Amino acid sequence: MKTILITGGAGFIGSHVVRLFVNKYPEYNIVNLDKLTYAGNLANLKDLEGKPNYEFVKADIVDSDAMLKLFGERQFDGVIHLAAESHVDRSISNPTEFVFTNVIGTVNLLNAARASWKDQPEGRLFYHISTDEVYGSLSNDGTMFTEETGYDPHSPYSASKASSDHFVRAYHDTFGLPALISNCSNNYGSFQFPEKLIPLFINNICNNKPLPVYGKGENIRDWLWVEDHARAIDVIFHRGKPGETYNIGGHNEWTNIDLIKLMCSIMDRKLGREAGTSEKLITYVKDRAGHDLRYAIDSSKLQKELDWVPSLQFEEGLEKTIDWYLQNEEWLQHVTSGDYQKYYENQYQKR
Ligand code: NAD
Ligand code: TYD
Repeated sequence: MKTILITGGAGFIGSHVVRLFVNKYPEYNIVNLDKLTYAGNLANLKDLEGKPNYEFVKADIVDSDAMLKLFGERQFDGVIHLAAESHVDRSISNPTEFVFTNVIGTVNLLNAARASWKDQPEGRLFYHISTDEVYGSLSNDGTMFTEETGYDPHSPYSASKASSDHFVRAYHDTFGLPALISNCSNNYGSFQFPEKLIPLFINNICNNKPLPVYGKGENIRDWLWVEDHARAIDVIFHRGKPGETYNIGGHNEWTNIDLIKLMCSIMDRKLGREAGTSEKLITYVKDRAGHDLRYAIDSSKLQKELDWVPSLQFEEGLEKTIDWYLQNEEWLQHVTSGDYQKYYENQYQKR
């Protein structure tokens, strides 16, 4: 029976990866390690409680001793590392936190894996989940990021992720640690903390609050349904080659303003509002500092070598996502009120 460590499993993407692995691989023990920061929410994984192949460990990856101890005790067969500080706006107001978790936390995990796998690295894998933002910003000329694009991060978030990617490659090249990386475009879907564009705007439209569009809304993002990202992670974890990098994306570019207008029209229909009502909430605000103009991922390597393709068209995925937030009003209320942070105390600490 293999034991797989997934870090950051109580967050947005991590919760989808944990759910996929626990349900699809009953022969694996899945250990979800998470510090439960503001972005970690065990209510995202309520459906897995009591499953015999699922375990939650509350820990901080910045605590090097705790990581060495855990890896010494558990002898993980594989690591899928998602834990991170992930919001660009927060990285602008508090960059240091991003260095601790994203850089030092990743190096702590690499050290712990290296120490625990030194006698038998074969058959193990350290899989680091990264972002397309490390490649910098594209102009509006149809070019895309490939695995060969040079790193050129601009925000403290992308700089910290770029640094962690370099450390993962350095541990592979210097110490022979079996490691690989994937870089994915913007994700959307259920269980995303409502400070990122799509869930924030769904919540604001529901509550008739302003929709703060940075700058002119002309920035372009390449959106991928989170469950397609989780499927790609599954494929890469099982069939990717150590030392390699795989780009993941949906070939689905939208200017922010077009995406926001589409969300407004879907929400008007779902909420029974007259067409055009929600668009009136759009408020242009000061642009984000260092705002990258355009991201676009070329994922042909993953498609050709590992046979992965996105399963959902964007309009369908967006409708599904909006439906999920409308049907899970309680989840949204708990997250926006902060009540979700009591969930761990109630469900886990009392045991
Ligand atoms: P998220 O912010 O929703 O979740 C991050 C999780 O990490 C949370 O559960 C949090 O509690 C945990 N965490 C934070 N600091 C920790 C620490 N010191 N120790 C242990 N756990 C800690 O993030 P997400 O959007 O799910 O992103 C997950 C990963 O995917 C990140 O590495 C991110 O860089 C990457 N990524 C995200 C996107 C996206 O669109 N969201 C796109 C590409 C790549
Ligand atoms: P975000 O969801 O924060 O993801 P990222 O910055 O990692 O791409 O933002 C997506 C885009 O939406 C980005 O161009 C910034 C913009 N944006 C707004 O215009 N208003 C907002 O309130 C937020 C959160 C984002």
